[in-house]
Amino acid sequence: MVTEEEEKKEEGVIKKKYEFLEDLPGIGPATAQKLRELGFHTVESLAMATARELEPAGISEKKAFAIIDAARSSISVSFIRADELLKMRQSVLRLTTGSKALDKILDGGLETQTITEFYGEYGSGKSQLCHQLCVNVQLPPERGGLCGAALYIDTENTFRTERIVQMSHHLGLDPEQVVKNIIYAEAYTSDHQMFLLDNVDDIIKQNNVKLIIVDSLTAHFRSEYLGREMLASRQQKLNKHMHKLIRLARAFNLVAVVTNQVMAKPDVFFGDAVHPVGGHIVGHTSHTRIYLRRAAHGPVRIARLVSSPYLPEGEEIFKITENGIEDVSEEEKSRSRGR
Ligand SMILES: Nc1ncnc2c1ncn2[C@@H]1O[C@H](COP(=O)(O)OP(=O)(O)OP(=O)(O)O)[C@@H](O)[C@H]1O
Ligand SMILES: [Mg+2]
Repeated sequence: MVTEEEEKKEEGVIKKKYEFLEDLPGIGPATAQKLRELGFHTVESLAMATARELEPAGISEKKAFAIIDAARSSISVSFIRADELLKMRQSVLRLTTGSKALDKILDGGLETQTITEFYGEYGSGKSQLCHQLCVNVQLPPERGGLCGAALYIDTENTFRTERIVQMSHHLGLDPEQVVKNIIYAEAYTSDHQMFLLDNVDDIIKQNNVKLIIVDSLTAHFRSEYLGREMLASRQQKLNKHMHKLIRLARAFNLVAVVTNQVMAKPDVFFGDAVHPVGGHIVGHTSHTRIYLRRAAHGPVRIARLVSSPYLPEGEEIFKITENGIEDVSEEEKSRSRGR
């Protein structure tokens, strides 16, 4: 006879054994405290840790493996075992951008478990999209949301609650509630930005966060790490930061969004003369990249899916209005063609 436990295991839903760090074998209050100082507040984040990361807490390699293993056994196996990859793919959820056209090039919306990067010039709509996603994530699944909260790491002080209120009204949501479900932090330096993400796992869990925004990912790094000789350390830090974000996205099945500016490529004669800041590291770790640019005039923006693990390149338009991110109507399209 199959027991209930075995049945659950078969479905990839293992009952949680450990709720708090102190419940894990080999972790006493002092070690738990040190782990928290290192940014590991939850069993989920320990399940995604490497043994080396636990070293500063005075934990030997052997003990670290045992702790990580125990943590892994406690959370859904579908996030861990390679043979469960398919199941992991099946648990991917999608979040609407607010524009059907933009959702279409993304095959239904932004995915959980990966990072989506929006890059483009000043005023191309990166932050506006981030605002819209913070509202949309709170919608129920039948409206393209994830019934979750949003976490906004703002590096340029451009987050505006007024915009959230406008967008909420348009969707018939109570702005007061919507604003309550957005957890905001301003990052003052690149180190502070990293610190915030390193210490966020508990907040994610407590608040059912389903969307993390880092707007902008690269601005601080770009202004602090100047010159060629600092490039290597900048890339190393960015790499670490992005990997932290990916791990959170996987551990908590959430959508991660970063924005990025573009730099002019003076040596390019053919193709695009701009490219996103951060070079290869950001490019390789962010799974889906969307290039945003302004149309000739007005509220219309052009979005191009530049790279995705499995989707073809595609281009669509949307517009930014008082209501937020919206589709361009057929009438508007033909009107602009006639111009
Ligand atoms: N309330 C609004 N109604 C209509 N359009 C708006 C509104 N608020 C912002 N916009 C549009 O969004 C643009 C700003 O876009 P956004 O802040 O997303 O740019 P960005 O890509 O984040 O730029 P940066 O690189 O400077 O951060 C404005 O120029 C305007 O066209
Ligand atoms: Mg912006």
